[in-house]
Amino acid sequence: MKAVLQEKFRATFGREPAIIVRAPGRIEFIGNHTDYNGGPVLGAAIDRGVWVALAPRTDGVWQLASAQKDGVVRLRGGDLTKHSGATSWVNYPLGVIDALRAFGLGVPPGFDYFAGSDLPLGAGLSSSAAIELASALALTRAAGAEPARDVLVKACRHAENHFVGVPCGILDQGVSGFGRRNHLVFIDCRGPRFEVVPLPEGVHFWIFNTHTKHALVDGLYAARHRECMEAARVLGVGLLVEAPLGALAAAAGRLAPVAEKRARHIIEEIGRVDATVRALRAGDLTSVGRLLTASHRSSQMLFENSTPELDFLVDTLVATPHVFGARLTGGGFGGAVMAMTSAAFSPALAAGVAAAYEQTFGARPDILHTLTADGAQVL
Ligand code: GLA
Repeated sequence: MKAVLQEKFRATFGREPAIIVRAPGRIEFIGNHTDYNGGPVLGAAIDRGVWVALAPRTDGVWQLASAQKDGVVRLRGGDLTKHSGATSWVNYPLGVIDALRAFGLGVPPGFDYFAGSDLPLGAGLSSSAAIELASALALTRAAGAEPARDVLVKACRHAENHFVGVPCGILDQGVSGFGRRNHLVFIDCRGPRFEVVPLPEGVHFWIFNTHTKHALVDGLYAARHRECMEAARVLGVGLLVEAPLGALAAAAGRLAPVAEKRARHIIEEIGRVDATVRALRAGDLTSVGRLLTASHRSSQMLFENSTPELDFLVDTLVATPHVFGARLTGGGFGGAVMAMTSAAFSPALAAGVAAAYEQTFGARPDILHTLTADGAQVL
């Protein structure tokens, strides 16, 4: 991929890139919508991601191109006007520049920029965080700066919240920034504080991407965010992480039924993340798998961010041999299901799941057998 990107950069801009970086996509392992509620979450960086090649320019012009789109977007340096339509992908690097400035970090006055990806887009694997991290790393390095990793991660979340306009937590950017091969990233989102937890040997991840709409930007995600904040307000806490489970019973009658369900999901999910860390440290994969599937059931019944397609995949997967557990991964409302399996789970078994899905829904999900990977890095 590095050589391909180098070649595309040369073909587009007629010169060599000065820097090439890669930032991974991520699996949300467990901790569904816990991040912006101040809770803990576990994710894994995966071996698919976004590459950015960049070279500074001296004439103050910004030129941006992507392997996924035709044409070059040519801008006067400093022009942070938001784009819509075919060039709206540039809002990610532009949002990052805006955020880096807000964080007091400089970018080169002019640059040529080329992005490429081998990450399925809109699958709930955080292609947006990957392009943000890759852009932030390339731009800061090209300006001669080496900001601390948590600063880079926070700037990228800032870009998503304030420029792209999604009220996301820090999971996606945190995992893309702090990922480590053969590890999960644990984030205590209150700090935020980032740690890695070793992944027991013999664990495999399979992703089933339904290609159904991932409606993050469509407001359903924002609606869940609002519902959680409203529940926290009624419970008398700043964020739901501060509310013990008993608070729900104590607030009976004051919490609307929908708010109660959302809050119960978050509070119980926080407990599941902590239990998952303990089970991982004990190497108890059966318990980890059960927690993953329980997380999905809670998304399905309480947080109501699953879909019939995702539920079908989870039901089919957990009835398939060598699967420890399965759940939707990411914001929900479509996207992908992740299964944690032993090494004995095979392409034939995955194809069986896909065939059953096709019989019911008339389309085949994409299957991705993925490994964990390191976080954003200069290549
Ligand atoms: C999306 C958001 C994350 C997180 C998950 C749900 O991926 O970007 O911040 O909230 O949804 O857990």
